[in-house]
Amino acid sequence: MKILYAIGTGPGDKELLTIKAVKRIREADIIFAPHNKGKNMALDTVKEYVQDKKVILLNFPMGKVTKQDYTDVADTIHDLIPEGKCGVYLTIGDPMIYSTFIYLMNELEKREIQIDIISGIPSFIAAAAQTKIPLVIKGDKFLLMDEFCEELLDDTDTLCILKTLRDKEAILESLDGKGFNYTYVKRVSLEDEHVLTDKEEIINDKDYMSLILGRKKDND
Ligand SMILES: C[S@@+](CC[C@H](N)C(=O)[O-])C[C@H]1O[C@@H](n2cnc3c(N)ncnc32)[C@H](O)[C@@H]1O
Repeated sequence: MKILYAIGTGPGDKELLTIKAVKRIREADIIFAPHNKGKNMALDTVKEYVQDKKVILLNFPMGKVTKQDYTDVADTIHDLIPEGKCGVYLTIGDPMIYSTFIYLMNELEKREIQIDIISGIPSFIAAAAQTKIPLVIKGDKFLLMDEFCEELLDDTDTLCILKTLRDKEAILESLDGKGFNYTYVKRVSLEDEHVLTDKEEIINDKDYMSLILGRKKDND
């Protein structure tokens, strides 16, 4: 049987890798990671454990990735792991949160391969720690989104919005209107981490590796 470990590499700081992730990478015969225009934060995070292992950067086309693209990548992964050996697929944060791996997993499950998921620390959990903004206390409701939905705010105490590049101005207007404090965290846990609270500065920043944490003012 072939085995694929989907490994969450956390928010970027290599000290936030799990021991299990490090063990599985050390044991692996082959390492897979998405190509991302030649940059790959997950691979950067684990590079000291990869050493001279074979690394395959998988190409997901720009724009909308089709079912056929996932089928092709699943075939590549399946074909390249030798029988009886194991490979790892690296994802930033946790593999079960807004990750390409979720779509890939659906394709891989149709093949003769065992899939195990190794959790990683998600970006918003690391951001809550770095900013000391509590995500939830007793009785709170927390909302995680990658597409903003204003209608849900009335029934929410704390929220996190990932993939902040779109409509930031409208999002912040909406959070102001609904009585939320907000904090923008970019590149959390990395050397160039930045925390911004000024509305204009947040709107002007264009880093994909960023998120917005919001908490209702009445809760503080
Ligand atoms: C495709 S999602 C992946 C989420 C990831 N699986 C997780 O558990 O955090 C990509 C988004 O995650 C967020 N993200 C990932 N790493 C981050 C970091 N180090 N700092 C801030 N945001 C990060 C950003 O919002 C980015 O646009």
